[in-house]
Amino acid sequence: MTITETGTCNQLTDRFGRHINYLRISVTDRCDLRCVYCMSEDMQFVPRAQLLTLEEVSRIGRIFTELGVHKIRITGGEPLTRRNVIEVFRQLGKLDGLKDLTLTTNGTQLDRFASELRDAGVKRINISLDTLQQERFSKITRTGRLQRTLAGIDAALAAGFEKIKINSVILRNRNHDEIIELVEFAHSRGIDISFIEEMPLGIIGDHDRAEAYISSDEILDIIKQRHELLPTTESTGGPSRYYRRTDNSARVGFISPHSHNFCDDCNRVRLTAEGRLLLCLGQEHSVDLRRVVRANPADDAPLRQAIIDAMTIKPRGHDFDLTSQPVILRHMNSTGG
Ligand code: GTP
Ligand code: 5AD
Ligand code: SF4
Repeated sequence: MTITETGTCNQLTDRFGRHINYLRISVTDRCDLRCVYCMSEDMQFVPRAQLLTLEEVSRIGRIFTELGVHKIRITGGEPLTRRNVIEVFRQLGKLDGLKDLTLTTNGTQLDRFASELRDAGVKRINISLDTLQQERFSKITRTGRLQRTLAGIDAALAAGFEKIKINSVILRNRNHDEIIELVEFAHSRGIDISFIEEMPLGIIGDHDRAEAYISSDEILDIIKQRHELLPTTESTGGPSRYYRRTDNSARVGFISPHSHNFCDDCNRVRLTAEGRLLLCLGQEHSVDLRRVVRANPADDAPLRQAIIDAMTIKPRGHDFDLTSQPVILRHMNSTGG
């Protein structure tokens, strides 16, 4: 057991001595977009009756904070498509042990929700954006309108979040020629940007992931041709490695599961929308927390114990291989990003 920065005891340590202080909760696998790297064209979503209720999500979140988790990120699918999801933010926002309540969103509904999220206690927010060209945006998301996400980014800026980060998945010959434009778009607004190497989760029909792969180092070299970048040791508690420009205070981050494996420092677990606790993004090890929650509606002890015990099956890391068919058949939208 360790004492956390918020003074609570962290009871979540795995076999490799890693302390788990970050929970990512997916509140839905549904999304209003169909990004080509995330989903196949034809997706079957979890029937709504199988989802955790919002009360169950908040209860599990509370118990994690009592066990030492101090950062919770709400993800999806697109979390803002879940009806009344703001209630979860309100409940979690009240928890004493929570230092960081955050959200990853595609931004399409932020013009409606940004100020409510801010009022509920969300200080930071990550918005996915892979291109600034409308036609490309429609191709990459299969359905979306760029204008909706841009309006969402404007709304997030107006709502006054302390930090906004853009996440861009870069695919060779698809959007790699927009790296500089994306950096400049973000930094001219005081927004950080992270570039993500695509991960082989689920079968997708659109492109060959090995052919589309572009390493973080290659992206870094492209940016360095235009801007001076200095590495920093800053961390947001997630997997991004950050660099700072010498002429701008916003950062460029790299999430590099292939080229710079970060599993040794893993501090996180994921809760899927159906209540499955996934111990690793890239493995199947999991525990069914929905069953435990529903079997013990008035007693938190079994749930606490199930979470503590789950740490013993957290695997060392992923075995991603872009050159073969994906081993993990769950798509990112069911995984919780
Ligand atoms: P910050 O709190 O801003 O650091 O966010 P984050 O990077 O933890 O979260 P975000 O939702 O922005 O995720 C960005 C990308 O990182 C997504 O593609 C996630 O799937 C990926 N990611 C987050 N955690 C892990 C992880 O444990 N393993 C792998 N392979 N990818 C991860
Ligand atoms: N590989 C890497 N990142 C992905 N995302 C969705 N699918 C994948 C994938 N297969 C990104 C989204 C979002 C974040 C939660 O994960 O773009 O920014
Ligand atoms: Fe939706 Fe995010 Fe997946 Fe795109 S990456 S389809 S926005 S869940």
